[in-house]
Amino acid sequence: MENKTPKTMGQQFGRRSWAEPWKIKMVEEIRLKDRTQRERAMREAGYNTFLLRSEDVYIDLLTDSGTSAMSDHQWAGMMQGDEAYAGSRNFYNLESAVQEYYGYRYLVPTHQGRGAEHLISQAVIKKGQYVPGNMYFTTTRLHQELAGGIFVDVIVDEAHQPANPYPFKGNIDLAKLDALVQKVGADQIAYISLAGTVNMAGGQPVSMQNVRALHDYCQKHDIPIYLDATRMVENAFFIQEQEPGFADKSIAEILKEFCLYTDGAWMSAKKDNLVNIGGWVAVNDEALFDELRNMVVIFEGLHTYGGLAGRDMEAIARGIVEMVNDDHVRSRVGQVRYLGDLLTAWNIPIVLPVGGHAIFLDARRFYPHLPQEQFPAQALTMELYLDSGVRSMERGIVSAGRDPETGEHRHPKLELTRLTIPRRVYTQAHMDVVAESVKAVHENAATTRGLKMVYEPKYLRFFQARFERL
Ligand SMILES: Cc1ncc(COP(=O)(O)O)c(C=O)c1O
Repeated sequence: MENKTPKTMGQQFGRRSWAEPWKIKMVEEIRLKDRTQRERAMREAGYNTFLLRSEDVYIDLLTDSGTSAMSDHQWAGMMQGDEAYAGSRNFYNLESAVQEYYGYRYLVPTHQGRGAEHLISQAVIKKGQYVPGNMYFTTTRLHQELAGGIFVDVIVDEAHQPANPYPFKGNIDLAKLDALVQKVGADQIAYISLAGTVNMAGGQPVSMQNVRALHDYCQKHDIPIYLDATRMVENAFFIQEQEPGFADKSIAEILKEFCLYTDGAWMSAKKDNLVNIGGWVAVNDEALFDELRNMVVIFEGLHTYGGLAGRDMEAIARGIVEMVNDDHVRSRVGQVRYLGDLLTAWNIPIVLPVGGHAIFLDARRFYPHLPQEQFPAQALTMELYLDSGVRSMERGIVSAGRDPETGEHRHPKLELTRLTIPRRVYTQAHMDVVAESVKAVHENAATTRGLKMVYEPKYLRFFQARFERL
């Protein structure tokens, strides 16, 4: 007879269970629409999950950007917003938090990450200069290109291999970087665009050893390093867990050491900083700061608010203190891994190792019968939504866009669908529902048909493109 004794998750793996280091004080209702309603919603959205209404979504794994639950302490800070046009006290609190936890000297707030990308790209890149980086990110590369830069991918080869278990797939390949420097000359390199963790590679981290070596190399060649610090706390967790010598260091210590090897950073505060809106750019060089502080008044707002309300800056300042709590980071990455472990055990093709913020389904292996021109990862987002109301995001050929020189599709090696986990929002039961839906969609993969793009906007097409089913 079948053994019906229920087991906790910990028991199933022969260990004690762990739980999130928070309890829920306020809830928001979510509803699962029926299949006919989901079919209609998807059709009306042009088979693009960015164009769905959130009320039509059951479990929303579109992004971890601005979707975090704030703490009671952050909400209390919102009530202490100093909404003065100039010199808000919350700006100084934010400035102190960035100085203390990231270690940079000067801060300019922005409305979100791409506002910061815009400022730093315009201030640093001279037309025709190269910007080597550890894999592109959509908005980052576009701002670098709009400033006249040419992005060059110098990430290690392992990053482009979804099943390769290398623990630091975010690392820069110094030989690739050196080949570029030898070819074009160090003065033609605007800066190194270093992201920790690398979103498009599957949330993969950079090792401390790699950033130290990069720092030494760049010192010799007088090349600045600017960090996309958006998910740097998750990167610090992987260093603590995977890199020899860091097990006894705190997340806060690791974060600060890593930033020490860089000259500044831009930030989408909507991720690590645990808020719903905001960003910043921080640098050590006074002349560059002067330029950024002057430019921000044109595009974002005065340099002591940069497009944010005082209350938003206070929430970020408090979020920065909470984000480095070791228990928080462990549980955040632990939840992502929980989902990843289920899918791996069921032989569902995902990017390994599981990264910090999301599970990336490998759409090439889901749908070997679909050519990349039929948008397999986009089709997978559609199938998941139709099956269960779970919203995910394409990170493949649609996101990669077109080459500005040739106008042709860029064909990225990775054709992925991202299930992104918001911070402190969903429970283990939600992850179970998601896992079962992915399994169901995988079982029906052979009958899935591709898509045709029928509307394509000029910039960042993945946000607004429309499709039809083939
Ligand atoms: C790695 C990375 N950099 C930059 C950004 C841009 O930030 P924002 O969406 O706040 O403009 C994002 C947003 O998804 C990101 O993931």
